[in-house]
Amino acid sequence: MKIGIFGAGHMGSAMIKGWVQSNEIKPEDILVKGGRSNTAAKLQKTIPFKLTDSVADFNQVDIIFLAVKTPIILPVIHELKNFLKSSIPIVSVSAGVPVSEMQVALGEEYPVAQAIPNTPVQINQGITGIVYTDSITDAQKEMIHQSLAILGMVKEITADNINIFGTLAGCGPAFVDVFMEALGDAAVLHGMNRELAYEVVANMVSGAANLLSESKKHPGELKDGVTSPGGTTIKGVVALEKNGFRYATISSIDSIMDSYK
Ligand SMILES: NC(=O)c1ccc[n+]([C@@H]2O[C@H](COP(=O)([O-])OP(=O)(O)OC[C@H]3O[C@@H](n4cnc5c(N)ncnc54)[C@H](OP(=O)(O)O)[C@@H]3O)[C@@H](O)[C@H]2O)c1
Repeated sequence: MKIGIFGAGHMGSAMIKGWVQSNEIKPEDILVKGGRSNTAAKLQKTIPFKLTDSVADFNQVDIIFLAVKTPIILPVIHELKNFLKSSIPIVSVSAGVPVSEMQVALGEEYPVAQAIPNTPVQINQGITGIVYTDSITDAQKEMIHQSLAILGMVKEITADNINIFGTLAGCGPAFVDVFMEALGDAAVLHGMNRELAYEVVANMVSGAANLLSESKKHPGELKDGVTSPGGTTIKGVVALEKNGFRYATISSIDSIMDSYK
């Protein structure tokens, strides 16, 4: 599969790294076009993908991803429209431009989709939500799915869930990072060195997450399994609740969702 991608910034580079390190996509099968600051050229020094300045070169790929900032998505689409000789599927990873707007720009029949990946795609442990349009054929769907499944889990979602998906999966890692850093601070406060603390925290968080996925139990049930009557863990849970942990968590998501209104 030959993949084309516009933009090798935070998200574009994370996707490129994930594809290459999977060994399922060869670097030479990835065609990249960057912007004005040479970000893509710098990345190419470590990952030998094909780099181009020519939009016409994207006629050689099977699928085109747009990993540019939201205001640049439609200008890039208009540029592509002038140069593409056939209907190569275009997948935008921007949360800000709905598929309906891309469809208007490209024509109702053009195969477009909107994907929301998150940064763990760079280690093939991401999760990507994808919205397809009716113009995507089953074969194109399969190809898009395959390319994204290399990067982690893929979930087909509806257009009305794109913002909450992006908030949970895309912004969520930052909240977990803050939580992990705070746990690390607490460990340092009690005499553990920071390096060991982050190793313990990262393994604890990924273990708890994997247990939730694999056991299919309710998170509350898993929490109940750790909190014995009168024990230490419930004291910690009470301290979290006293400090509004649950409300703070819900508010973090809610405040982002408010910003979309
Ligand atoms: N970051 C996330 O966690 C995340 C999650 C989900 C979705 N997204 C989406 O991913 C998109 C990119 O976000 P980002 O955080 O990766 O932004 P970013 O780091 O600023 O990367 C955007 C890249 O686009 C390049 N670019 C600008 N104009 C271009 C053009 N005309 N042709 C080709 N490339 C061009 C820029 O290149 P230069 O640096 O060389 O100018 C830059 O490296 C956004 O739409 C965002 O909504 C991000």
